[in-house]
Amino acid sequence: MELQVHDDGADSWEEVMLIYDAALKQINTKLEILNDEFQHVHKYNPIEHIKYRVKTPRSIVKKLKRHGYESTLENMVKYCNDIAGIRIICDYTSDIYRIADMITNQSDIKVAAIKDYIASPKPSGYMSYHMIVMIPVYLSDRIVDTKVEIQIRTIAMDFWASLEHKIQYKFPGEVPEHIQEELLENARMVAELDARMMRLNNEIQELAGEEDGEAETRATLCKIDPSMV
Ligand code: GTP
Ligand code: MG
Repeated sequence: MELQVHDDGADSWEEVMLIYDAALKQINTKLEILNDEFQHVHKYNPIEHIKYRVKTPRSIVKKLKRHGYESTLENMVKYCNDIAGIRIICDYTSDIYRIADMITNQSDIKVAAIKDYIASPKPSGYMSYHMIVMIPVYLSDRIVDTKVEIQIRTIAMDFWASLEHKIQYKFPGEVPEHIQEELLENARMVAELDARMMRLNNEIQELAGEEDGEAETRATLCKIDPSMV
């Protein structure tokens, strides 16, 4: 059942916010488990860190107004995709698609929409992989399918997006054109840096693989007596 709301006061507002918050906690836990499992199997963490937040009432109202909707609970649930938002930051671009696949493969998560701003960056230069997903939240008397926006990006993409966001705030109207151009150029440098770091990492992985004596020792020990290791 999708989130049903009735505009009958603060109680339902608080309940809706509680449900979004629960959805975020659930996704966060799922991601931590996937990251731990990945670390256990591949000795490597695809996730650097995770941030999540429930949108403030003020920004919800602002967004609804911007899109021409009245500020009602119903409109907010229907038209605001990012009331519950989670941002996953990783080291390399390849991690982004790995994490997106892991999320898609969770049988209780439904992917409602995907926007790949890495394959096609926004005109501003913005890069990130966005997913809108539905996750069931188990309440005492019902199960509520809840919408969550997931943004997945590298540390470098996050660096760019955070600074660009702050710059936008400094100019209430349009950001001056020469600044927009420079931001776009910097976004290209971010993409280039990500590609170079990933290449370097691949090379390091290959070299480390050849020299990983410890792994060999562990494998040999396992052959001798798996119950001892
Ligand atoms: P809103 O932009 O939130 O109204 O929704 P939308 O449906 O247009 O989604 P979109 O994919 O454009 O962006 C969703 C979110 O991505 C935003 O709320 C921002 O967090 C982020 N985002 C999108 N474009 C930019 C950008 O140009 N710069 C920065 N810094 N962040 C962006
Ligand atoms: Mg937008």
